[in-house]
Amino acid sequence: MLVSVALVATALVAVGLALVGRSTETLPVADGAGPAPAPSAGGTPERQTLRDLMPPGVRIGTAADGRGLSLDPAYRALLGTEFNAMTAENAMKWRSLEPLPGVHAWAGADQLVEFAQQHGQAVYGHTLVWHSDVPKWVSPDWPAERVRAVLQEHVTTVVSRYRGRVWAWDVVNEVLDEDGRLRDTIWLRKLGPGYVADAFRWAHAADPAARLFINDYGVEGRTRKADALLRLVRDLRRAGVPVDGVGFQSHLRWDQSPRDLVGNLRRFAQLGVSVAITELDVRVALPASPQKLEQQAVLYRRVLRACLAVPACVSFTVWGFTDARSWIPGYHRGYGAACLFDSGLAPKPAHNALMDELRRQASRGGVVPGPD
Ligand code: G3I
Repeated sequence: MLVSVALVATALVAVGLALVGRSTETLPVADGAGPAPAPSAGGTPERQTLRDLMPPGVRIGTAADGRGLSLDPAYRALLGTEFNAMTAENAMKWRSLEPLPGVHAWAGADQLVEFAQQHGQAVYGHTLVWHSDVPKWVSPDWPAERVRAVLQEHVTTVVSRYRGRVWAWDVVNEVLDEDGRLRDTIWLRKLGPGYVADAFRWAHAADPAARLFINDYGVEGRTRKADALLRLVRDLRRAGVPVDGVGFQSHLRWDQSPRDLVGNLRRFAQLGVSVAITELDVRVALPASPQKLEQQAVLYRRVLRACLAVPACVSFTVWGFTDARSWIPGYHRGYGAACLFDSGLAPKPAHNALMDELRRQASRGGVVPGPD
């Protein structure tokens, strides 16, 4: 019986993959037990959610916040029902994980991973090597060998701990500056440009099955920085470095639109890597108005269409799902309302737009005609 259920499930996935032109190779591993049931109010039909409508082979993810998870049952319910993937917004950053040398604080990250497993969600690990959120005890005054040793130890320890439970890692995050040069960081200064390749090799050694991503912002459309990232990924792949994917953060503004999203994702896909929308949000200038939220919805839809139009796009992740917990107001003065749900967790036009887009695509058999 179990075998036949598994066979039917496999066949259904294969049909779905054929429809969207995705290969099983790009399917995330380390999946959990399948979709969690949506909360049901006294036997009424359950509301459809984003994860219900997402085509097979493409994950719908969100950044998740430990505080929301611990304190807010409504937050937990939406997190578990709307998404089938999650990224730790902060809990897997080095500063969170290792406050003192050799002393790890795993509880926050473990809590998210356990929640994900209980709700059939893939975990996207964020992030191993970054210039930000480095623990204060890592000193730029150390000799290069010591910096290299602690970085390798960090990558190896974290990836090994979550081996088989994290399907993909942002191995390096934001390594390019605005001009497309390698960013001036402690890693570049101390270790030279080879640290990028080394980080991928260390991560691969610690979990050969994990998908390894390079992640950046300002590269969603065709920009100078995107051109530079393309060259970097091509060179790394030619050198045999295990780079499996490119993450496009996509922190956007409601009144600006990236140039040629689809064409840009495609040129990366042509290098043989997966691509992923990793941190999408669309901030608006406050106060938000119905018109601004409609424009915001158009952009969310456009990014989803771009991802679905490119078979190599394996996940579509928003950077938090509620305006109540978004990073935007704290970092972009005068902006906010960037998420799919408002502060009271009611769906906004952007959520409706994504649902509508997924229904349209399902009714067309998963094929997106025309430009994004
Ligand atoms: O946890 C402490 C808390 O103990 C303290 O009371 C509080 C006081 O400020 O700070 C808390 O830490 C903050 C943390 O978010 C958790 O809320 C940090 O100060 C704050 O800097 C941190 O900001 C995060 C930021 O990355 C820096 O790590 C944002 O939440 C997070 O959304 C943002 O995410 C980044 C991605 O990692 C990379 N791409 C860009 C994206 C947006 O900046």
